[in-house]
Amino acid sequence: MRACLIAFVLAVSAPAGWAAEPPASKAEAQAAAGDPVAAARARWERSPHGEVLRRIIPPNLTPAQLPEPQSRGAHLTVAYCVQCHNLAPPAMHDADKWPSIVERMLPRMQGRGNRGELMQELMAGVRAPSAEETQVIIAYLRRHAQKRVEADALPEANASRAWASFTHACAQCHTLPDPRRHTRAAWPGVVARMERNMEWMNRVVGSKRDPREPQYDSAEIVAYLRRHARP
Ligand code: HEC
Ligand code: HEC
Repeated sequence: MRACLIAFVLAVSAPAGWAAEPPASKAEAQAAAGDPVAAARARWERSPHGEVLRRIIPPNLTPAQLPEPQSRGAHLTVAYCVQCHNLAPPAMHDADKWPSIVERMLPRMQGRGNRGELMQELMAGVRAPSAEETQVIIAYLRRHAQKRVEADALPEANASRAWASFTHACAQCHTLPDPRRHTRAAWPGVVARMERNMEWMNRVVGSKRDPREPQYDSAEIVAYLRRHARP
């Protein structure tokens, strides 16, 4: 598997003529040293759409931090899913949502992307998983997915401003997380990371106070999560 992964990385990062160019960045030097994520990133960040692609997923995760990092599912996810943007962890979405997300990525990898120009440039070196590999990736993402909870089934449902803040703010990018997913001690750090994600992905943050919109209140959300967290 290891050898196959390295061969794959060379295939995507070394289209004709590439080797003759001087390395454009530190990332490309790392790429040359065999780091698959750096190799892919060097490729898409050099595209004229690099900045857009960079912002799709924040750069929070290294392959080693994936669950079951040595599994085939993790290897395939790293091999295929960092070709256009940073690595998304399985815990980002719930199990019901992953198949449709992966299916949305497939035509892009197969050169049938709907964002013509963007995809054409990327397509130069991008590879698509086989049908069997696609199933392994989907099964892997679903196995370690976020557990889905319904807003109305959560504690304080429709009964507190904190519940309203939490359900508004935290369902913008993925399913609402279960407050019991983390301990009281862990939640402040997770919410702080999510605030960095919001800035990175250009979503609403608390800096602009618009009275017509629901207010993002970090302290209130953290307090809500800690109230209902695992001890
Ligand atoms: C050929 C380029 C390309 C590849 C390869 C690719 N993606 Fe994407 N991905 C995109 C683009 C473009 C977007 C932004 C538009 C969108 O969300 O559909 C995106 C967005 C995303 C998002 C954020 C949007 C959301 O619904 O949360 C996730 C998660 C994601 N991709 C997961 C994956 C996974 C998993 C794989 C591997 C199976 C993958 N991507 C491979 C191009 C790609
Ligand atoms: C701007 C989009 C965005 C918003 C809004 C958002 N998240 Fe996330 N969330 C992400 C991304 C991207 C990931 C995967 C990367 C990561 O874990 O940082 C993620 C992953 C998670 C995870 C799984 C990983 C873990 O550490 O358990 C949890 C739980 C989570 N978010 C909680 C929240 C909470 C609570 C809020 C509201 C305060 C929130 N998210 C708002 C983008 C967002």
